[in-house]
Amino acid sequence: MVTLKIDGQKVTVRKLSTILDAVRKLDIPIPTLCHHPELSPFGGCRLCLVEINGSPKPVASCTTFARNGMDVTTTSPRLEKLRKTTLELILSDHPKDCMVCERAGDCKLQELAYFYGIRENRFGGEQRVYEKKDNNPFIARDMEKCILCGQCVRICDEIQGVGAIDFAYRGLRTKICPPFENDLNCEFCGQCVAVCPTGALTGKMWDQKGRQNFKEVDTVCPYCGCGCNITLHIWRNEVRRVSSKEETLNEGWLCAKGRFGYGFIHSPDRLKKPLIRTAPKDISAFPIHQTNPPLPPFTKGGRGGIHPSSFSLHPLSSFKEVSWDEAFDYIANRLKQIKENYGPDAIGGLSSARCTSEENYLFQKFFRAVIGTNNIDHCARY
Ligand code: FES
Repeated sequence: MVTLKIDGQKVTVRKLSTILDAVRKLDIPIPTLCHHPELSPFGGCRLCLVEINGSPKPVASCTTFARNGMDVTTTSPRLEKLRKTTLELILSDHPKDCMVCERAGDCKLQELAYFYGIRENRFGGEQRVYEKKDNNPFIARDMEKCILCGQCVRICDEIQGVGAIDFAYRGLRTKICPPFENDLNCEFCGQCVAVCPTGALTGKMWDQKGRQNFKEVDTVCPYCGCGCNITLHIWRNEVRRVSSKEETLNEGWLCAKGRFGYGFIHSPDRLKKPLIRTAPKDISAFPIHQTNPPLPPFTKGGRGGIHPSSFSLHPLSSFKEVSWDEAFDYIANRLKQIKENYGPDAIGGLSSARCTSEENYLFQKFFRAVIGTNNIDHCARY
């Protein structure tokens, strides 16, 4: 362990902790733009500067290891002046369109500019103008707003293991882009969007769908069985965005489905009542339980030599909307009929990762104990 003094307070942290870790342990506020606790230290924004007694220059606290006996100062007129100048330099070529920026009110840079009272910029010079390369369905890339904090690069590489983007060029021309400045072509997990401190990376689905006046509802992702915690951002009774909080079991990380796959919630195509597949002609002439033809015998090439997938895509079938009671009667009759005619192993059950563990348990119990078959499988067992 290492013990040091920060702003006069003693603190003990584990070996190989940074000064910033120790500062955070004491809950002392210190501005950062490129630091993320789950990513490797970067030291790019220079806002987390601190003074160490006996050291001639301030150092970046996020990349300097804490040492025994250090005496660290986090706030002084000199440090605040340096931070303000650094911020002014970052803002010098940043677009001034906060009024319409998707991240206004949720932008770390805007927050710091407010905190340091930066109204005008004394630094002039070249402004970045980039050709928009935005030919993807999920992520809007407004790279003129990029402050080169590198969090998107590190998360894509270190957490996601994809490495779809990196720093390109040098000096004032430095930018973050996919190889050869091609269009972004990745998994579209949106992790880069989640860590971006400004409006450089945002979700296309969120565009002009509301900013800060959301009602937030914590829930569980409806996709695979990992059970990631998500937060729905609701505005005017509609889900407008999905995010995840750092303190959850998935540590705020989500995949493309969890982050962007919520369009089904308000889709007008959603099924709201049970449908029974029927033959299109003379439907009224048949009681519901007789409308499906008897199954042909099972052979090596599938049932009756027909591949199973063709059963569900029969071109002459159509759907009839029924009540839940009718649907359950139909299912029970058909299962009984198939079991009597062909035996329980003619039936198989495919369960779902979207169900709870309890529902999946009941499902397999029903198939094994009531129907009498072990033909059980699961959509996530590829
Ligand atoms: S947070 Fe330390 S340099 Fe950016």
